[in-house]
Amino acid sequence: MTGAAGAALCGALGAGATKAARAVPALPDAVPFGAAVRPMLLGDDADYSAAVRRHCSLLVPEGGLKWFDLRPTPTVYNFDLADRVMRFAADSNMGVRGHTLVWHGAMPEWTSEITSTARAETEMRTHIETIMGRYGSQIESWDVVNEPISTDFSKSDYLQPCVWLHTMGEDYIEQALRTARAISPTAQLVVNEYGIEAANAESVRKRAALLKLLRRLKERGAPFDAVGLQCHLHGERPIDRDGLAAFLSELAAMKLDVLVTELDVIDDKLPGDFATRDAAIAGRVDELLETLFAVQRPTAILTWGISDRHTWVPMYFKRGDGTRNRPLPLDENYQPKPMLRVIERYCRR
Ligand code: XIL
Repeated sequence: MTGAAGAALCGALGAGATKAARAVPALPDAVPFGAAVRPMLLGDDADYSAAVRRHCSLLVPEGGLKWFDLRPTPTVYNFDLADRVMRFAADSNMGVRGHTLVWHGAMPEWTSEITSTARAETEMRTHIETIMGRYGSQIESWDVVNEPISTDFSKSDYLQPCVWLHTMGEDYIEQALRTARAISPTAQLVVNEYGIEAANAESVRKRAALLKLLRRLKERGAPFDAVGLQCHLHGERPIDRDGLAAFLSELAAMKLDVLVTELDVIDDKLPGDFATRDAAIAGRVDELLETLFAVQRPTAILTWGISDRHTWVPMYFKRGDGTRNRPLPLDENYQPKPMLRVIERYCRR
């Protein structure tokens, strides 16, 4: 990354981000580009590590900072995976995002024992203080709350059920943000959500529910800086350009930044032919980024993995024809695909 891009990253991710130089990916970017990384591959897998170094100026651990990884028991912390990512990022002069402090997913079994409000408040506060305390000097942007909005509107019309909602009520979100801000006055604090961008009824409801939450948080003076759009796009679903643009304008009016946190294109319903499929995937990303950049420039763009060789997509969206999923910027042999070129074009703007 160039000096200007480094400054953009520092500006984007908080005034406290004072590191002088950043990694130098192949092409300089004005909007920092990064990817989710698998801690066990970093350093040990030379091709993977080289691809990450070549293309990214920003990393986010795909796992390692989730409760499931960090908290095997109520009293034991396991920092091994997260430490690996931090070491690699420091050695490679890369920025890091933290994912995630509070989420309904990836919770260890023992957290189902948390049933009282007092215990929940203590557990959540201690967790945030411990994790941000350990990594706060290196992590400049945090997904403080991940996926707060309901995943099943037939069961809940607004917030996603989770241990925190059950014990602390809606206030858990504000408390998490306040705890995070008390530890770091400068880190970028993010509310992260998925399924916001599609032209379907589900996204319409999610946008409305998320806006309701954001307005409530703003009214109460809750401290946060940005909304993270995960953007696990589905290749066959068009982007709702008008709906998304209207949503982004609302964020801008609330003085909230926006960033793309987990971009990939799920391709289980796209044609088998690689060239056709890759073109459709790149087209969707172009549609998304064009809409975003027209309203407000994201502070960062991260994909959920760098290469098709290592992606979560086949866990849930395996293709019927036996070919590998191709959701990411590099193919399984770490060669750039059209999706990367689209992202680079926007990042350099
Ligand atoms: C996924 C990881 O990619 C998988 O490896 C893991 O097993 C489950 O979680 N939204 C999120 C991410 O916020 O944390 C999820 O990551 C993908 C969906």
